[in-house]
Amino acid sequence: MIIEGIMTTLDEKGVVNVSPLGAIMDNATQRCVLRPYKTTKTYGNLKKKGQGVFHITDDVEMMARAAVGRLDPPPLMENANAIEGRILTGACRWYAVRVCEIDDARPRARIVTEVVDQGRQRDFIGLNRAKHAVVEAAILATRIDILPAGQISEDLTRLEPLVEKTGGEAERRAFDFLAEYVKAAEKTERLIE
Ligand SMILES: Cc1cc2nc3c(=O)[nH]c(=O)nc-3n(C[C@H](O)[C@H](O)[C@H](O)COP(=O)(O)O)c2cc1C
Repeated sequence: MIIEGIMTTLDEKGVVNVSPLGAIMDNATQRCVLRPYKTTKTYGNLKKKGQGVFHITDDVEMMARAAVGRLDPPPLMENANAIEGRILTGACRWYAVRVCEIDDARPRARIVTEVVDQGRQRDFIGLNRAKHAVVEAAILATRIDILPAGQISEDLTRLEPLVEKTGGEAERRAFDFLAEYVKAAEKTERLIE
């Protein structure tokens, strides 16, 4: 099963990068397989530093902003002990991982990691359709360069009622933020064409 979460990694200068990522986790959560595209900073950091922290969270607003590189101000973090890494203090659970194997023959790498430390900080709020809609919208927003023009807006129109009907303020803010981001990016694309 792929769990959508947020990965923090450090670059060679110790600058932290926060980015949503899917992780294939085994039942005992001793191993975690990551599939970052080679164009991402997350991939570069994992390759160079060989470590990072994967987080399980229900904070979809953070996920939405991190997906498009607009996390400002940066979220609260603390140092991990077992590795050189940063833990998002607001996340539900975290897994500090070390890279064991990298297969980067294809554009999307396959990175096998071993969990060397983990922690629980708070309960996961539970399933919520608006939160899932925001996660889908965030994934769409990261695919603006790949998906046909107009398709993302259509998908957002389909997702919006879920947010309206079942979301709280944070989900509405996150969805509106992504919708604005997509609108601006599609407009720029049209201007370039
Ligand atoms: C829920 C979610 C899951 C994602 N999973 C992946 C993934 O598995 N691999 C990947 O390359 N990008 C994934 N992305 C897209 C990256 O988060 C996005 O491209 C990001 O801008 C990469 O940031 P970085 O260059 O700072 O690492 C995901 C996005 C979301 C919202």
